Amino acid sequence: MTSIEPVTLLKLGGSVITDKNQPETLNHANIQAIATILSNHRPKNLIIVHGGGSFGHHHASNFDVTIENGTFDANEVDTIHSSMIHLCNIVTQTLRSSGMAAIPIHPLSIAWRDSESVFHLPSQHILVLLECGFLPVIHGDLVISEKKGATVVSGDEILINLSNSIPTKRIGFCTSTPGVLDSSGNVISQLYASQKQESSITHSSSTDVTGGMAGKIKQIAESNAPVSIFDLPNLENFLKGDEPGTLIR
Ligand code: IPE
Repeated sequence: MTSIEPVTLLKLGGSVITDKNQPETLNHANIQAIATILSNHRPKNLIIVHGGGSFGHHHASNFDVTIENGTFDANEVDTIHSSMIHLCNIVTQTLRSSGMAAIPIHPLSIAWRDSESVFHLPSQHILVLLECGFLPVIHGDLVISEKKGATVVSGDEILINLSNSIPTKRIGFCTSTPGVLDSSGNVISQLYASQKQESSITHSSSTDVTGGMAGKIKQIAESNAPVSIFDLPNLENFLKGDEPGTLIR
């Protein structure tokens, strides 16, 4: 059995690494900025999970595939999954070009949902990757679900699942908003477990089959580690150990 120091889990939102309003459009500048920030900070025991943005969400929405609604059509599965592999390859190549030992992990190949829709993601090999000095990069994807075919799994669900199977120090969500906003549009600096479901949450207008910020908050309620939600200008502060944006305990 592998034993490592508690990890940092970082979600890179699809709205940060892609242009969510244009199908299959990367945000190269942001991906490069993230790679530069990470290579400057070299955080130890980091696992990255990224979202689908205008890649996975665009195709999943076209085929009406969601977290609940699966598909049995292999061509649809291939189209959605391949778009996520493509996006993950760009992210990992950019990270490697900046000197990070990034390795892609594709959930469709290893994870599943059982008949109660409970999501299962083996994580022992991810710990071994970390121990060997690699930077695991996982992504929102399709997963095979008993009786439903292939359904969507969000990066958020993957991240929270990992935080419950791997000792986790802190969780960061790098999103296109500076945090969870109140009804006047101001960032709420701290939320406690009991408030996780009650805050005013803004909804994105772009294609999102996994529920946007509201879906994120629902997932976060399941986590055991402190969670920060912040935007890209605050990624560096998060990596330094600060608590930018909204801190959820
Ligand atoms: C979506 O992942 C994955 C697919 C649609 C295949 P996320 O739900 O984590 O993506 P973002 O961060 O909201 O774009």
